[in-house]
Amino acid sequence: MKEASNKNTITEPAVKVSNAAKRRKRKKKKKKNHNVNHNNNSLPSSPATSSKPQFPFKVDALDHCESPFEAYKNIDIFLQRYAKSIGKTKGTLSIYDPYFCNGEMKNNLNKLGYMQVYNKCEDFYKRIETNTIPDYDVFITNPPYSSDHMEKLLHYVKNMVLEKKKPFFLLLPNYVYTKQYYKDIMMNQLNHILYYIPIKFRYYYQPPNWVNKKKGSSALLKGKNVTSPYHSFWYIYGGNDMKNNELIEEYFNSNMKTMMEKKDRKMNYINRIEMLKQRIALCQSISEIPYELRGELDTQKKKRPNPRARKRNRDNNSNNDGCSNSNNNNQKKNNNNESFQTRYNNAKRKKSVKKKKKIYNFI
Ligand SMILES: C[S@@+](CC[C@H](N)C(=O)[O-])C[C@H]1O[C@@H](n2cnc3c(N)ncnc32)[C@H](O)[C@@H]1O
Repeated sequence: MKEASNKNTITEPAVKVSNAAKRRKRKKKKKKNHNVNHNNNSLPSSPATSSKPQFPFKVDALDHCESPFEAYKNIDIFLQRYAKSIGKTKGTLSIYDPYFCNGEMKNNLNKLGYMQVYNKCEDFYKRIETNTIPDYDVFITNPPYSSDHMEKLLHYVKNMVLEKKKPFFLLLPNYVYTKQYYKDIMMNQLNHILYYIPIKFRYYYQPPNWVNKKKGSSALLKGKNVTSPYHSFWYIYGGNDMKNNELIEEYFNSNMKTMMEKKDRKMNYINRIEMLKQRIALCQSISEIPYELRGELDTQKKKRPNPRARKRNRDNNSNNDGCSNSNNNNQKKNNNNESFQTRYNNAKRKKSVKKKKKIYNFI
């Protein structure tokens, strides 16, 4: 007991520090656990089949990756809304995914209550050629990234929207919207496509266990069982503008808690900060896509300056603009700014000197 009390008195500051450290550790642990839980959420469960399917089409081992459960969970609100609008339920809404890997997407949607899901090991392009695409209400897919699959998919989707006016949900990497083929093919839909973008997390894809480690995703060689080569998000269109607006309404309403909030709600974010606070954000045009999550080739990707730097840039610009017709007032303003800046810097320097002194005295 004595020893303990001695310890308490002698090492009191140390105990205080260690308590703070403990608190920090606990916070970190909490955060870590949250991330782990979230990551587990985004991982697909065990593959649908354990033996490699006999693909009746040319495949690239790198393409064999299945979409995570969380991705489907995220679009659940839209699917429910769409089902309701056409007088169907989760159980009767028919969904078509033409690209087959291991069939896990069907299990994922089944888990969410969607029982009419078509995802079979058959050649999508043959189906297009022979005009034998199965009937469906909603088109959902994650295509192979290799070769010209992306262009072929976009061509199909464009024609499908023009002819059948059905909604599509495409889980694509962030670079797709930067490609010329995207702009060329989706020209008419471009202003209507919604981008449903994970802000606080990213989607991880799982290669089935029959994928050859040397030929498949490089993540397998590193001993990982999931991969996420690009930030990916949903490219969505409701089939027509009215349905598209319903999806937007559904998203913003689902984010609002009370009826009052829902009544007053405008169908967009108040500002960029509000958007970035979301776990997953709905962008209504390419220009709304957060800079940080844009495709590599996007010229707008360069980091947005912080608010202070933005203000400085604005001030500099306005100063430059005013140079040609500079007058005394402007000069006075500049002088004031300068003196404020120098005063501010001096104060800062004084503060740091004081701090240093304090530390020196303490030692
Ligand atoms: C990225 S995976 C996605 C699988 C599934 N759609 C999902 O979201 O989990 C793409 C798959 O498309 C398949 N694929 C490639 N060419 C195809 C074709 N012509 N017809 C159907 N599937 C094809 C490949 O087998 C590959 O595993």
